[in-house]
Amino acid sequence: MTNPIYSPSPERYDSGMNYRRCGRSGILLPEISLGLWHNFGDIDPLARSFEMAHYAFDQGIVHFDLANNYGPSYGSAEETFGQIMKKSLAPYRDELFISSKAGYDMWPGPYGNWGSRKYLISSLDQSLKRMNLDYVDIFYTHRFDPETPLEETLQALVDIVRSGRALYVGISRYPHEAAQFAYDYLKERDVPCLLYQGKYNILDRGPEKSGADGRTILQMAKDNGAGFISFSPLAQGLLTDRYLNGIPADSRMATKPNLSREVLTPQMLEALRRLDAIAAQRGQKLAEMALSWVLKDDMVTSVIIGASSVAQIETNLRAVKNTRFSVEELAAIEDAVKGVVITL
Ligand SMILES: NC(=O)c1ccc[n+]([C@@H]2O[C@H](COP(=O)([O-])OP(=O)(O)OC[C@H]3O[C@@H](n4cnc5c(N)ncnc54)[C@H](OP(=O)(O)O)[C@@H]3O)[C@@H](O)[C@H]2O)c1
Repeated sequence: MTNPIYSPSPERYDSGMNYRRCGRSGILLPEISLGLWHNFGDIDPLARSFEMAHYAFDQGIVHFDLANNYGPSYGSAEETFGQIMKKSLAPYRDELFISSKAGYDMWPGPYGNWGSRKYLISSLDQSLKRMNLDYVDIFYTHRFDPETPLEETLQALVDIVRSGRALYVGISRYPHEAAQFAYDYLKERDVPCLLYQGKYNILDRGPEKSGADGRTILQMAKDNGAGFISFSPLAQGLLTDRYLNGIPADSRMATKPNLSREVLTPQMLEALRRLDAIAAQRGQKLAEMALSWVLKDDMVTSVIIGASSVAQIETNLRAVKNTRFSVEELAAIEDAVKGVVITL
């Protein structure tokens, strides 16, 4: 290993972070995890990526969430993370819980997308090289593939664990029935699904929607002994003060294709301003309240935040201090978002 450039804070586990048990497993995850979808690519300042990863670890954020194609460019967030491992975090590998995924577009041709065994296994081999890791802690099938037999995708996960490339497996964005099939298949092979990763925030209530058997994605994860981890808990930055007074030039909405300006309708702005006022009454910033709101549910194990600065992570960490809501606060939040909530 090259000379480490960083010594973590000796107080990293006394900084106020809480750890929640992930379903019926031996794993505890921090209530706040850090995602590398944006801001860790080769278009981003490398020094800032290092700074954010160091700060996160110093505050007890031990879970870093990646996927093969995070960047841009594809693969570059894993490469950045690989540099962070090599130069600073490698001595702390056993304190870290690192994920990767495959399921979306990654390389050209028929084998670089969706859910085949061929794609999942070769993609994870590439991810491990980019991240300078021998294994990931959890590997996910990133989305349900309606064309590939689900048994093929899931058996690839089982074999990935048996080969030592991953310690645990998870599913992301699976619809209800496919999720139940996956929970059963994996359990029968003694490789239980550790986590369901789904989008869940004040504006997007997909995981609260019932499937054919009347259960929600959240309830199904719990019933099957899996944890639930929320991605985009800030609705990509909408649920913060970022857009309350215009669209900042350096924001995701101004610079990336993933968050369209079209979502910022007058109705949405009004809802965000009302949420901001409710947050202020709780003594929180809107971003803090949005994370506290997801964490109020004990079926949620962790929220995966994105961040473009250390200051944002610092604000977001304060969410764990107050995850209780009064009945009146919850009703005021529902009233504020009436008409703008999405339930996929
Ligand atoms: N499984 C999946 O399919 C899937 C899909 C999407 C994401 N994910 C995972 O979830 C992670 C998080 O997703 P996300 O980045 O959309 O999460 P998010 O937390 O909803 O949004 C992050 C963005 O919000 C803004 N922000 C964060 N904290 C802020 C604060 N305190 N004040 C003001 N603005 C703040 C920043 O935007 P600016 O950049 O504008 O500053 C930041 O980039 C990803 O990195 C990835 O690991 C998984």
